[in-house]
Amino acid sequence: MTLQFPEGFVWGAATSSHQIEGSPGSRREDVWDRFSRRAGAIMDGTVAGDACDHLNRMQDDVSLMVELGLQAYRFSISWARVAGDGGWRATAAGIEPYRRLVGMLGDAGIAASATLFHWDHPQELEDAGGWRNRDMSSWFAEYATDVVDALGDGVAQWATLNEPWCVAFLGHADGEHAPGRQVPAEAAAVAHHLLLGHGLAVDALRAGGARDVGVVLNPAPILGDGSVDAQTLRRIDGTLNRLWFDAVLLGRYPADVVEDLAAVAAPGLPIRDGDEDQIARPIDWIGVNYYNDHTFTLGAADPDGDLVAVSSGDAVAVPRRPSAHVTAPAARPAHWDGEITDQRWPITPAGFERLLVRLRDDYGSALPPLFVTENGAAFDDPVVDGVCDDERRIVYLDAHLRSVRRAIAAGVDVRGYYAWSLFDNFEWAWGFAQRFGLVHVDFDTQVRTPRNSAWWYGEVCRTGLVPAAP
Ligand code: FCB
Repeated sequence: MTLQFPEGFVWGAATSSHQIEGSPGSRREDVWDRFSRRAGAIMDGTVAGDACDHLNRMQDDVSLMVELGLQAYRFSISWARVAGDGGWRATAAGIEPYRRLVGMLGDAGIAASATLFHWDHPQELEDAGGWRNRDMSSWFAEYATDVVDALGDGVAQWATLNEPWCVAFLGHADGEHAPGRQVPAEAAAVAHHLLLGHGLAVDALRAGGARDVGVVLNPAPILGDGSVDAQTLRRIDGTLNRLWFDAVLLGRYPADVVEDLAAVAAPGLPIRDGDEDQIARPIDWIGVNYYNDHTFTLGAADPDGDLVAVSSGDAVAVPRRPSAHVTAPAARPAHWDGEITDQRWPITPAGFERLLVRLRDDYGSALPPLFVTENGAAFDDPVVDGVCDDERRIVYLDAHLRSVRRAIAAGVDVRGYYAWSLFDNFEWAWGFAQRFGLVHVDFDTQVRTPRNSAWWYGEVCRTGLVPAAP
């Protein structure tokens, strides 16, 4: 059945700076440049390098967005590019590429949705302690001031942070992400300093005249197979979901999570007087990035559990790391028998509706309007004679859009959807092997080939209709 989305629903696609921009020589080193050179950090041994060479191809890329029919484009700003002199403040030259991009988007009639921090802070700031250092929060707010002063009205929607859980726990507990540290107490400190930075940056953005200010989080349904007790699920849910939403929306951390973290990551969250109020500055929207449900087991190790596909068909073992779920370290991802992407991520569209409804039920009137700021899947279908038939991606997007639409019908205020991602790009610890793009990128020639899903999604963007099942 054809599905209609509400009038005014925003349709877009998302990318991030480190993953697509290229031109690393014209900015400061960032924390992912450094981490990626560490032996074994990136599964296929790549570094982002020239990536999609987007910085040099912006005009063509914006033209492609127009051709596809996007109404909005979510991108991020590289702090390491903006802070061109080292330190954390912007330089005119550093911010110039983003002035150009925002200008091009404006000319093209595409709404700009800018994220201030999608994980790529300057290595110089990491050397000063990164987010482990409380000063980072105020440096971030000063950087926000500079960016809003320079880009101002050109940006329709502002996000402070992208998925701070990943930076705190993947970056500092299991070490899968930059800076690749494995110290639970640091993860707790980083979580708090990121949230404090968010709250300070909200004030900075408002002072600079920004209107639509929010933050992008990555909540997920936490499920267990028969072996997992309720306490374990509560603990995982606490650090992945409630920690962030409670702090930002309710102005207080959940007491059980504070306690759990103090026990396993002493001294726990380094909260000072006034911090929780600062973190809970009113915001206009929250971004939800959703890929799949997270199902855990405490049972016997899954024989496939340590295998990941580095490209379709190929599976390799990755080293076992400590758990990112520091308050429930014995829980592991459960074996999944259902459908998977080429990255071996479970495909669980029904969970998306459940998640959105849960957020509404849990936070009620404290929950601002939601945007789906990322949703998508890695499928590596080949380009043959200029065509990429990625039926599986269309099926994935279709199922998830239907799930979002059901949540809207159930009364959840979802205002827009950004597909992840516009382009194939540098997929963090997975390198270039995972292809999430609506648009295929040949990284040798930089030729862009919209996949069939890009044309399909473009039609959704233009009409607000999801056509009858593919
Ligand atoms: C999210 C990130 C995004 C991308 C997708 C696949 O966690 O925000 O940059 O890597 O996953």
